[in-house]
Amino acid sequence: MNTDHGAGRITVSMELDGRHRSEEIPPHTVLLDLLRDRMGNTGVKASCERGVCGACTTLIDGVPTASCSLFAFSADGCSVETVAGQSGSGEPGPVQRAFAECGGFQCGYCTPGMVMLATALLREHPAPTDQQIREWISSNICRCTGYGMILDSVRRAAELIREEA
Ligand code: FES
Ligand code: FES
Repeated sequence: MNTDHGAGRITVSMELDGRHRSEEIPPHTVLLDLLRDRMGNTGVKASCERGVCGACTTLIDGVPTASCSLFAFSADGCSVETVAGQSGSGEPGPVQRAFAECGGFQCGYCTPGMVMLATALLREHPAPTDQQIREWISSNICRCTGYGMILDSVRRAAELIREEA
């Protein structure tokens, strides 16, 4: 992190969805605002902005993190993954396809955070139990209460990832 900018600005650099990005920002900028407002990554959703709902979940070095509650400088030098990186080839990734196939969303507002959470879960537990899925997604709120279909979606994503391995 480079702090030599006068006017109290700092430069934060990261690997965002596989691409190197660097921005000069005020030091108090939270990661959510950096991603959405300065980097144009509006797939990351802002909701409670208090670290409660999980809508803004991104993976920082693979760890699900509420981007609304993290200073952007904390992600300096890190890998940051968002839902935008799920379709890097232009096609939806397996977790996205599973959510579409199983109806794991209604309004869709929680979906980017759920997709990122599921991505991290399935890396750690490629064949998760229902209990593991429930525990992992308990950090994220779906206001449409689509939890049954979200559970189905994560199970299906695990199958798709295994089939494509
Ligand atoms: S918007 Fe970040 S946890 Fe709710
Ligand atoms: S689908 Fe509406 S908040 Fe989850």
